[in-house]
Amino acid sequence: EKPTIMVTGGAGYIGSHAVLALKDAGYGVVVIDNLVTGFRWAIPDDVPFVQGDIADQPLVEATLRDHGITAIMHFAGSVVVPESVENPLKYYHNNSAKTRDLIDSAVRVGVPHFIFSSTAATYGTPDVEAVREDTPQQPINPYGMSKLMTEYMLRDVAAAHPMNFCALRYFNVAGADPQGRTGQSTAGATHLIKVAVEAALGKRESVAIFGTDFATPDGTGVRDYIHVSDLAAAHVLALEALMAEPDRNHLLNCGYGRGFSVLDVLDAVDRATNNPIKRIMAPRRAGDPAALISDNRAILAAFPWQPRYADLDLIVAHALAWERALETRA
Ligand code: UFG
Repeated sequence: EKPTIMVTGGAGYIGSHAVLALKDAGYGVVVIDNLVTGFRWAIPDDVPFVQGDIADQPLVEATLRDHGITAIMHFAGSVVVPESVENPLKYYHNNSAKTRDLIDSAVRVGVPHFIFSSTAATYGTPDVEAVREDTPQQPINPYGMSKLMTEYMLRDVAAAHPMNFCALRYFNVAGADPQGRTGQSTAGATHLIKVAVEAALGKRESVAIFGTDFATPDGTGVRDYIHVSDLAAAHVLALEALMAEPDRNHLLNCGYGRGFSVLDVLDAVDRATNNPIKRIMAPRRAGDPAALISDNRAILAAFPWQPRYADLDLIVAHALAWERALETRA
């Protein structure tokens, strides 16, 4: 009998894929989500669901106790970088302050393991080819800072209390469950692959290319796109590593260690549909680094992680399939 994991934000994009990965691996799962941005239908029917806030400490502590929770996977949070610049206190509230209360509940109940969704945005605009975990973390927006603050909280709490943690610093997450069970569902997204598949299906007129004069091979921004199901699998391995070595914490990049430009992505979407999307040249977005690529040697050394979908065409194909499925769901 495998332990039961509480997944915060399990009705959201990455969280709902983690729920499937945990279930597929035989773990018990309980989801807590306030459904502000998540979808009830994204949670499988046989997974217990608690509608509520991660900062509702009586509710969280009752849930942790009632289900004998062994680990928390914490996905709940706000994720839109430009919004964090406009409304920083929303980010320090949702991502930092509420997470402080969640961690407090975990300590009070004695939950031994905590897995946290961190981000490459904690590195800011690093001046290196491939970002290592010891590359200085200098966030350039409140989103990245709000996540870095949580890394610091976890480090200090793990030193003071019987809890270990893993912070996974995600690079650019994209794609959808290969079996079509969940995907990225929030409308009005700003993420490139989501925007491009929406355009490919006629839900948008065109795709703006934010900057064509970067110091990259084709002048457009380069990112390390990682399939959401490979990322979810990394969370299960993180859980197993935390349980195997309770005195060890992990702070790890989660990417494939290679980059694609905006044009590479748009070409892949065009290939998938055989029907070119309209492209518009636009100025750079404030704060966008030219390139952001992970050095992923640390996670490959720490976990037996074998990415299964490290292929841009596959990521795009799954994103497109989910975007089509969403049309029939709405
Ligand atoms: N881009 C466009 N047009 C668009 C959208 C994006 O040209 O319509 C470009 C961006 O300028 C960038 C690339 O596509 O060069 C990727 O942009 P995204 O908005 O998809 O993602 P970001 O790299 O800006 O940020 C994402 C997440 C963050 C996370 C970061 C970590 O949104 O939460 O990856 O790498 F922190």
